[in-house]
Amino acid sequence: MGRTAIVTGGTRGIGAAISKALKEAGHQVAANYAGNEEKANAFREETGISVFKWDVSEEAACREGIAAVEEELGPVEILVNNAGITRDAMFHKLSGEAWRAVIDTNLGSLFNMCRPVWDGMRERGFGRIVNISSINGQKGQMGQVNYSAAKAGEIGFTRALALEGARKGITVNAICPGYIATEMVTAMPQEVLDKHILPQIPVGRLGEPEEIARAVVFLVADEAGFVTGSTLSANGGQYMG
Ligand SMILES: NC(=O)c1ccc[n+]([C@@H]2O[C@H](COP(=O)([O-])OP(=O)(O)OC[C@H]3O[C@@H](n4cnc5c(N)ncnc54)[C@H](OP(=O)(O)O)[C@@H]3O)[C@@H](O)[C@H]2O)c1
Repeated sequence: MGRTAIVTGGTRGIGAAISKALKEAGHQVAANYAGNEEKANAFREETGISVFKWDVSEEAACREGIAAVEEELGPVEILVNNAGITRDAMFHKLSGEAWRAVIDTNLGSLFNMCRPVWDGMRERGFGRIVNISSINGQKGQMGQVNYSAAKAGEIGFTRALALEGARKGITVNAICPGYIATEMVTAMPQEVLDKHILPQIPVGRLGEPEEIARAVVFLVADEAGFVTGSTLSANGGQYMG
């Protein structure tokens, strides 16, 4: 049965692959984005998926954005919190601005997005929430105190909310991707990738966005109701915590 889904940051990178895979699985998808109009418009034309612009770090913007999606597609039954940013710096150089931007966008967004859809999911007795965390939230990473803290926070958020949703037919799960070939990663200097990243990945390559999307499709299925509060690692064997 097709359900209504929102994918934040759903117009490029991992999110675009998730949006497409959910559509292929028969769901009605709304893809959110922050401001890259060019990518969002190209994505809409290529896929026919509706795109909606708002900033997931802003509580009121999320409420309004979700209301706009629900007016077009109906009550949200699947929420994939995928939008995320990095602002890397060694801690002795990390600014308060970079700390707050990363915490608010990656972690604050989970509250901003889940809170407006939660009551409806409880009332209808069905919901699927998937939070895209990171391997670096599991193991920590130099130069990413802000990002690692936000991504570890996503895992705690997932577990606590899963407990609250369990009796209401709502599952809440996290996926921790390793290094995936999107702009977030390919923006790194090739030398850093070749010398420092790839040798750490036992399968010997970066992951593909579609490999994360497959996991999301699995977790949001009606049949996946017994899987909740889990943290699914998809990292090519790089970390098995
Ligand atoms: N790539 C990896 O190797 C990797 C590994 C582990 C975890 N992750 C996580 O996976 C998720 C997706 O990563 P990615 O590599 O696909 O990123 P990406 O290619 O940089 O795309 C990020 C997406 O998030 C959106 N976004 C950013 N800030 C936003 C905001 N404030 N409000 C709404 N949307 C916002 C962007 O919108 P615009 O297009 O408008 O800018 C874009 O659609 C992130 O949570 C990331 O931390 C990625």
